[in-house]
Amino acid sequence: MTLAVPSREMRSISESEPPDDWGFRGCNTQYGTHGIHTYVAAMIPQLARKLIESYAPPKGIVFDPFCGGGAVLVEAVYSGRLAVGRDVNELAVLISNAKTTHIDQVQANETANNIIDTLDFSHGTPILDRTLGYWFKEEHPPLLDALRRSIEKNVDCHSPLRSFFLSVFSATVRDVSLTYRNEIRLRRMTPSEIDNFKVDPIQRFQKRVRQASVVVGDLPQGIFTDIRIGDVQAISLDDDECSAIVCSPPYGDERNGVSYTQFSRNMLRWLGYSNEHIKKSKDKTLGWGKRIRTAPKSPTLERALNAISEFPNSVNEAVSFYADYQSALAEMARVTKGPIVIVIGQRVLRDTIFDNGAITTDLMENIGVPLMDVFYRKLPSKRLPKMRKFGAAINRETILVFQK
Ligand SMILES: C[S@@+](CC[C@H](N)C(=O)[O-])C[C@H]1O[C@@H](n2cnc3c(N)ncnc32)[C@H](O)[C@@H]1O
Repeated sequence: MTLAVPSREMRSISESEPPDDWGFRGCNTQYGTHGIHTYVAAMIPQLARKLIESYAPPKGIVFDPFCGGGAVLVEAVYSGRLAVGRDVNELAVLISNAKTTHIDQVQANETANNIIDTLDFSHGTPILDRTLGYWFKEEHPPLLDALRRSIEKNVDCHSPLRSFFLSVFSATVRDVSLTYRNEIRLRRMTPSEIDNFKVDPIQRFQKRVRQASVVVGDLPQGIFTDIRIGDVQAISLDDDECSAIVCSPPYGDERNGVSYTQFSRNMLRWLGYSNEHIKKSKDKTLGWGKRIRTAPKSPTLERALNAISEFPNSVNEAVSFYADYQSALAEMARVTKGPIVIVIGQRVLRDTIFDNGAITTDLMENIGVPLMDVFYRKLPSKRLPKMRKFGAAINRETILVFQK
């Protein structure tokens, strides 16, 4: 194993242990609207809140350019700030909107009753491609298909109820899919587990509507949010438009890091997105779908790339990712007038640790944005399989605060 040491600049900042309470062990991460829909590699809401309260001015615009499941945006709304989010993943944008939009609880439940009352099973079994069918029990696709059609029939496509019902539907799709809930990569249950897996999609949907309608009913009304599809390398915001950025970027590309596309594919297919559409979105993710690029300047990155030089494909993949990441950081610096808070973990490629905290600091230095604070936060060990091998070197994430 090769450990790429932090750059000189990084080491000059005090490497204090994080304050004890930043571990948030045992905290409920599903409170409020966070529980409406899960997302892979989500930020802990308590951490998002702490960072927003520490670095974003009251009533300011908090921007998350990698909004994922919306943890930062929800906490921005709960803390009285304005929430602006972008992500290339349609599921991320859908659920972030649902979690930050007030809906009248009575109206949500009445609409849910209409959706259930007008379910129409006459369409029979929908034609699924083999890959989608593989993840569901044979009897479930007709029920999911009827639910989806009934939502279309009962919810106007411009209504705020739409993101609510589609998110609850998507969470239901995940509930009934034959996958393990706590694993990052999709893996099908064993035949005996499938036999014992008893779940009714319609009942599950109704239960989720009941729970979710309470928490969206409690959201403040009339709060400004702007959450859309968008590529961080070309952000649709003016210069200096936001007060602060709080985000957690991907740690690597979709092959070598977490695959957000794989996590969301089944749900997106049920929401009506084609495989081609999903592929096009994936091509926009950092480090994907582009020709090989030049490595940005970073002593830490250079050391890590040298350590894996006998694997040219891996070098190219890493270079593509960090080249995109460099232009993402430049765009982020353009659109904010305040602090940029980045929560990022280490990445292991070819048995070499890429110290993403130190690399991010080098890349920000390239664009003239200095580091103001750095903290480390221990991660719960069960989440990352590689932790067993690399232990303390990767069982923490780095919280970097840059001052534009
Ligand atoms: C670590 S996740 C963010 C998780 C989020 N903080 C949460 O709490 O759920 C990283 C996100 O970056 C998104 N992403 C990857 N490449 C992107 C790009 N070029 N532009 C915008 N978002 C991108 C992925 O789709 C993914 O949702």
